[in-house]
Amino acid sequence: MPLLIKNADIVTSSARFPGDILVEGEKIAAVGAGISAPAGAEVLDASGLMAFPGFIDPHVHIYLPFMGTFAKDDYASGSKAALMGGTTTLIEMCCPSRTEDAAEAFQLWKGKAEGLSACDFTFHLGVTRLGPGDADTLRRLVREEGVASFKIFLAYKGAFGIDDAELYETLKLAKELGVIVTAHCENAELVLARQRELIAAGKVGPEWHEPSRPAEVEAEGCHHLMTFAKLTGAHVYVVHTSCEEAVKAVTEARRGGVHAWIETVIPYLVLDKTYAERPGFEGAKYVMSPPIRGKEQQEALWRGLADGTIHTVGTDHAPFDFATQKHMGHPDPARCVDAAFQPRNAPGNFSLIPNGIPSLEERNKLLYTHGVATGKLTPEKFVDVASTQAAKIFGLYPRKGEIAAGSDADIVLFDPKAKDTISAKTHSMATDYSGFEGWEVQGKIRHVTVRGEFAVRDGAYVGKKGHGRYLKRPCTH
Ligand code: URP
Ligand code: ZN
Ligand code: ZN
Repeated sequence: MPLLIKNADIVTSSARFPGDILVEGEKIAAVGAGISAPAGAEVLDASGLMAFPGFIDPHVHIYLPFMGTFAKDDYASGSKAALMGGTTTLIEMCCPSRTEDAAEAFQLWKGKAEGLSACDFTFHLGVTRLGPGDADTLRRLVREEGVASFKIFLAYKGAFGIDDAELYETLKLAKELGVIVTAHCENAELVLARQRELIAAGKVGPEWHEPSRPAEVEAEGCHHLMTFAKLTGAHVYVVHTSCEEAVKAVTEARRGGVHAWIETVIPYLVLDKTYAERPGFEGAKYVMSPPIRGKEQQEALWRGLADGTIHTVGTDHAPFDFATQKHMGHPDPARCVDAAFQPRNAPGNFSLIPNGIPSLEERNKLLYTHGVATGKLTPEKFVDVASTQAAKIFGLYPRKGEIAAGSDADIVLFDPKAKDTISAKTHSMATDYSGFEGWEVQGKIRHVTVRGEFAVRDGAYVGKKGHGRYLKRPCTH
């Protein structure tokens, strides 16, 4: 049945205008003023509601074996949380270990989403080694599976991290294929050395996570990647940028001709390092890498978004429970648990706390509240950084990230006057806590469609398991 959305306040990355949106099948058929309803159409009066293109989260982890445990969500809870928060497309990091074959890993990750996800999805393919034969496997996945972006880690030595020889070869391969390389930039050796020093000095609580990987460590990682990108000509995208020093390293390289894009993530925009300093091990809820920085860094990030220096806002959703998983790093031997969540009877430390803050459901609400409602971002910029830029950078535009005839009918209808409160008691993510517990947010998501089908109606979840589709993408770099 066609759907006619009447009288919406339509916001795209480049325009804002009152109008109607006609949806036929999976696509937007027309956008404009005074569109008449075709026979049998459902007419939805969107007076007072803003209409945004479905939001795209360019950086999530759903299936993630990491730091001796597994992230909590699966695609049932993850896609529901995404949709309740207005995100209609997920780009997940496929993160094989260094012993896993890339093709097997890709099928494993894809299999976790297919048949379960209610929203559309695709993957940045992790390149966590580049031995003989691996390059041909990657070429085949790009050709046959529509993989258009890789993911590399300069951190997490011994787990996902690659060495410089592999980095050079990966970027050369990406250049050959027109694939963009997304990168976690922190100097792995510096992190290890500083972790050892701090732990030896008895500085073991979550508040020491930030000093173990300060802004310079991240900026060095960015500079390192920029050097390799310049030499190879590969296009690169720095994920979860947390500080001005890192933004500067990338921006300077851009001025020198490097093709580089910058992502920040919602925790860095609204949290500061005092959260990780909270007593009673509460700080563990806020341990992620790179770490949450000092409050002064927030303004630099907001400025970067407003002036276009920073291109996207993702989440780096990496959900771990507080009561069990985060306690793997508790300094008190009586409270520290092992990977089976049994008493470890030995002290933990911050380097054993699984890294990540769940935020998939809250990104758009927090970005609107702290960005648009405060006047830091225009509504158009909000759409740009939370949807359209990701579509453009990662080969999804104009299918996604746009409200125009021919685009997928992924539409978010948002009431900017309503208010809402965040709580783990009501969220759809699988974690036992919210890092934003009790926070009030401005605006409420009323309706969400994914390729023409309602996933949220009148604020209630009506999404369908398996409606989500894997998105093949062209290589555009
Ligand atoms: O703390 C984080 N960021 N956890 C997820 C893994 C990663 O580095 O993206
Ligand atoms: Zn990372
Ligand atoms: Zn991540």
